[in-house]
Order: sequence, then structure tokens, then C-alpha cells
Amino acid sequence: MARKKLMAANWKMYKTPDQARDFFHNFLPLVAGHGRDEIVVCPPFVDIRASVESSKNSSVSIGGQNLYWEKEGAYTGEISATMLVATGCTHVIIGHSERREYFGETDDTVNLKLKAALEADLTPIVCVGEVLEEREAGLTEDVLRRQCVRAFHAVSTKKAGKLVIAYEPVWAIGTGKTATPRMAADAHRLIRGEAAKTFGEEFANSMRILYGGSVKPENAKALMSEGEIDGALVGGASLDPKSFAAVVKY
Ligand code: 13P
Repeated sequence: MARKKLMAANWKMYKTPDQARDFFHNFLPLVAGHGRDEIVVCPPFVDIRASVESSKNSSVSIGGQNLYWEKEGAYTGEISATMLVATGCTHVIIGHSERREYFGETDDTVNLKLKAALEADLTPIVCVGEVLEEREAGLTEDVLRRQCVRAFHAVSTKKAGKLVIAYEPVWAIGTGKTATPRMAADAHRLIRGEAAKTFGEEFANSMRILYGGSVKPENAKALMSEGEIDGALVGGASLDPKSFAAVVKY
């Protein structure tokens, strides 16, 4: 089954609203009429409004980089799924390795966030991936399996509808080191196998698995030509309109 690729930008903590507007002003003409892939940009929360307005008449969707699982309440500094939807987001990144490393996210909070996102009809992009020590110790498969099993806990196939996974080997993020298409494909097959165990073969075969970690215009084509790779989650190279457009159009 052909899976439409999803090319997603993760801006991390970069750009003000004005810089976001500038980005779209320059980026949108470069991808006008590009219908082959789905395009999503995930800016910092404060740029969402500017990004939604700037991309209004385009096929580019906007997503959050995080969310909190409660609907509302005394949770200073947090943002709910409902709030993301209300500001025009259709997607949300969950469990990015930087959130796991610096902000105490665990497999269990990823699971709570995933359920909240699905409940609000957002397309969740759940990040999994091993750190260098785990890869070197031969633990990659165990880590990916554990992250998937715990993320998918108590999510029904019916509810999981829009689930997207991003395989981001942590050693490849922002380092200039990329997994080879073959390494990524092996990891993606394992992730798809885990999804099949929880959600069934049919669901797993239609579920998109993105690769993230130093994706650039120079390596996007080789990675995207691998049948198991259904798109990219792009950090550094997504900040510049020309380079993100070149990745999208690999
Ligand atoms: P880089 O593309 O900068 O390596 O970042 C990848 C990433 O973390 C995307 O979420």
C-alpha cells in the first residue's frame, strides 16, 4: 500500500512570530503545487498563530512540539490538546528525545500525551530512538520495542487512526551523522512489527514512520527512496526556507 510521505519541520526553540512569517513568505512559493508529500511545520507555541495565518491558503499544516494531557487546570506553563486545536494545529510532536533528556518525559508521559492527542483528533508524531550507548551495546531493538509498547499502551486500533511514528536515533540529531537508509529501514521494520502486534497488520502497513536525524537536502533523496521510510522529521535544515523546500522536494 502506498503511504503518502509526511515531511515535517521541527523548529525547536527557534524563531519569533515575525521570523515565522518571514519563513512562510519565502517558503510557500517554493512548494506551491507540490502535492506529492504532506508538509507540516511545528513552530514554538508562540509562533503558532503567525504560522497558521501565514500558511492559511496553502497545503502546509501546522503542529505543536508538545502538549499536556489534561484538558485544562492549574498546570502553569502547559498547553492542552484543545488549545492546540483551537489555534489551528492539526499535528503534534510527542516524546521528542530532547524532551525526554531535558524535561523529564518518560514512556508513560508519552503514552498519556498520545491518548490526549488522539482524543482531540490531532495527528500525533510520536518520537522513538536509541542513544549512542544503547546502539553500541546492541540494545537498539530492545529500546525501540520498549518505547513502542509503552507508548501504545491501552490505545485501541480504532483510536490510533492517525498515529505517526518518528524514528530519531538520538546520536544522529544535530550531529551531522545520519543513519544509513538501511539502518533506518531496519529500525522502521521493527517499529512496524510492534505496531502490528498492538494494532494489527493492516493498521501497521498504513502507518507512517518518519526518519529524523540530520536530514538535509544532500541526503534526503537517498533516505526517502527507502520504501520503509515514509517521510522526515527535520530540525536544523527546516529553519531555512530554501533548505526545507529542497528536503521536501528531494
Ligand atoms: P536535526 O535535523 O537538526 O538533526 O534534528 C532532528 C530532530 O530532532 C527533529 O525532530
